Amino acid sequence: MNAPLKHTADATTVEEGLAIAEAQDQQYTSEMATETAMQNTLLTPRFYTTDFDELDSIDVTPVRADWDNLIAQMEADPNRGHFKKNENWDKVDWDGMEPELKKEFIDFLISSCTAEFSGCVLYKEMKRRGNNPDITQLFQLMARDEARHAGFINDALREAGLRVNLGFLTQKKKYTYFRPKFIYYATYLSEKIGYARYITIFRHLEAHPEHRFHPIFKWFEEWCNDEFSHGEAFALLMKTDPKLTKGMNVYWIKFFLTAVYSTMYVRDHQRPAFHKALGVDPDWYAHEVFTKTSKLSEQIFPITLDIDHPRWQRGLERMQKANADMAEAKGLKKLGAQIRAVSAFISLIAIPAKKHSTPASVRLEPVY
Ligand SMILES: [Fe+2]
Ligand SMILES: [Fe+2]
Repeated sequence: MNAPLKHTADATTVEEGLAIAEAQDQQYTSEMATETAMQNTLLTPRFYTTDFDELDSIDVTPVRADWDNLIAQMEADPNRGHFKKNENWDKVDWDGMEPELKKEFIDFLISSCTAEFSGCVLYKEMKRRGNNPDITQLFQLMARDEARHAGFINDALREAGLRVNLGFLTQKKKYTYFRPKFIYYATYLSEKIGYARYITIFRHLEAHPEHRFHPIFKWFEEWCNDEFSHGEAFALLMKTDPKLTKGMNVYWIKFFLTAVYSTMYVRDHQRPAFHKALGVDPDWYAHEVFTKTSKLSEQIFPITLDIDHPRWQRGLERMQKANADMAEAKGLKKLGAQIRAVSAFISLIAIPAKKHSTPASVRLEPVY
């Protein structure tokens, strides 16, 4: 007889986590969920590949003390076994859920699962291809965490009869190439904004438990602490090379900040029923998440976006409207909406950024 299958939450390496996930892929699958995860639009999570040799050649000596501390913390693995259902997992009434909410929430879960798994495949590939012991160790640890996160979301989806087939995605989803420095900016930001998003929802539901319409939100605190550590690792990687946050690269940082913030705004505004059920105003939520992310990113980026500038909110709204029109319109109208989206993005990126000096030591602890 076969031993019972271990859970992804208990896996101590990414390889073990993926083997468990793949065995589950064999047991059940869902075309709808996997097809949704396969989509590559401006608003859906993508998979990335990069120049792994360049990444592997990073020397972490300039940040050695902070590096060793962070790795020791991740090696201690405080969240091992956490990302699975336990007695705190309340029964979910999927059939009784209001249809709009159900649709948007499933979309949220599939998109989150894909984003978690996108981190997993990128980090795992770096670990597999690298020879630098510092780099491979870090990427193994981060990939381990992301495999658990994705596995847990699939647990939640399963109750709705859905599953994102992770093995299929690894093989078949399109990979977008980003040179290493773009991976640092984009991934650093997505880890930190992920932390800010999860902790903001967690704190809000702590204060308003009547809005917690699904148990998975109870897991967001430990979850966001993992993302926080991943962000710290990328901050340290960027700190090893001061050129990455100077000169022309500051324009790239501004580009990524604007792209990541505005994408989040547009995507969240596509889920009104979801935010209503949570009791969260999406404009308030966006501003709150941007404020936290900006504060955190001062650890490494020499600029932050001026999110209180009068043109900021207006630009976001224009972009959101143009995106909504783009989805509906055809032909010339569609082209018009695309032009409006681009012009809204340009007006956002043209807002002067706030400059500041960065601290000598980058390390932060989660305080929100
Ligand atoms: Fe994650
Ligand atoms: Fe992460």
